[in-house]
Amino acid sequence: MEKQLKYSTNSMQTSKREGFSTSLGVMAATLGSAVGLGNIWKFPYITGENGGAAFLFVYLICVSIVGLTVMISEFIIGRRGNAAAVGAFKNLTPGKPWYLTGVAGVISCSLIMFYYTTVAGWVFAYVFKSLGADLATKDPNVIKQVFADFTGSIWAPLFWQWVVLITVGIIILAGVKKGIERMTKTLLPILFVLLIISDIRALTLPGASAGLKFIFEPDFSKITGVTVLAALGLSFFKLSVGMGTMTTYGSYMGKNENLPATAARVMVSDTLVSIMAGIAIFPAVFAFGFKPDAGPSLLFMTIPMVFNSMPFGKVFLALFFMLSSIAAIGAMISLLEVPVAYLTEERKWSRTAATVASALTIALVGSTATLSNGILSDFHLFGKTMFDLFDFTSSNILLPLVGIALTIYVGWVLGPRAVYNEATNEGALKNRPLVRFFLFIVRYLAPPAIFVILLNGLGLFS
Ligand code: PHE
Repeated sequence: MEKQLKYSTNSMQTSKREGFSTSLGVMAATLGSAVGLGNIWKFPYITGENGGAAFLFVYLICVSIVGLTVMISEFIIGRRGNAAAVGAFKNLTPGKPWYLTGVAGVISCSLIMFYYTTVAGWVFAYVFKSLGADLATKDPNVIKQVFADFTGSIWAPLFWQWVVLITVGIIILAGVKKGIERMTKTLLPILFVLLIISDIRALTLPGASAGLKFIFEPDFSKITGVTVLAALGLSFFKLSVGMGTMTTYGSYMGKNENLPATAARVMVSDTLVSIMAGIAIFPAVFAFGFKPDAGPSLLFMTIPMVFNSMPFGKVFLALFFMLSSIAAIGAMISLLEVPVAYLTEERKWSRTAATVASALTIALVGSTATLSNGILSDFHLFGKTMFDLFDFTSSNILLPLVGIALTIYVGWVLGPRAVYNEATNEGALKNRPLVRFFLFIVRYLAPPAIFVILLNGLGLFS
């Protein structure tokens, strides 16, 4: 079995496939996929809704154990299978239904894109709003109203969603090296610096300590099954795992890349960015009398207030949203790449046709998510607005399910030998004890843990 696998992998290597050119490029692209609206928009508002520090604690456990394990698993599948989300499984286990895991990933990516482009559209729009008169106020109620009016309208948020899709589509068309690598490499460090500036400003606000207490002083009575599932779902969403993105990126990685180390670096950096965003946002929540559980609007209310009370606030505010837009683009490139790679590799479409068809579908279906903040706010399916339904189904159901399948696949179907070879670069890396630890988690801990969290979070134990 092992011999056969190796043989087929090697022979696949000879077929020409575009990939990342340098280790720095690999790091930039994977981190560019992980860092996005998840850090600055989703992480703070979900932490706020779930009680702050206790949630952060559970999240840290989920991301550093389960999330990281799934990320390494995806890298292994992608590089060894030498194809994108669906094809990798077909190459490694031909004739078996495992490729359906990849198909589920393609569906998850699409579901996420339906509402992610809505929020990215808001962020794009706020770059321009920041420079205008709308947000130039020190009254928190006005800031709140500006957001409600904008997201509740029809054409403006739809227009921005389309701008987002066209931007991402053009980058995808440019291809892996020129498009993805180049965009992300230069821009992430700038975002990091701007977050530091925001943190300093937020920490010097009067009353900042209440916000810090909220995210760093845990009250464990707030932890429930639903909270833990939310933390697990967020950790998958954050690391862009459980949906084929990292399988696809793994397939673009060279044979000499250190997969476990790359994954660990991405996990740590990404978590750092999330916490920095939390430090920028929560002091402001308490200083200006917002509610930490305000939901998706949290970022758009607090950040304008943070910058409005400092010199050159307008410029900083616009810059903040501009860099957030860029972070969102990095994430969306990797999201859109999954269906596009599927259509080109598996269905033999041209890259242009695949990109245009995917973008059009997202524009069409995604408009229901955008409008669910306005005219469609009363339209509910399974008790949720379309926006919430896309989010819940992907993050809290599909990602954990695919996570279970991926870990079982790597731990039990590929098996220890293949995992050793792939994770140690055929023995070249000196990381054997680490790989052994990974194998233990991927085989015995991750699948049952995810399963129990999923059932418990869906209320099947109560
Ligand atoms: N990780 C990205 C973020 O936090 C979102 C994402 C999810 C990107 C899934 C790719 C795949 O914003």
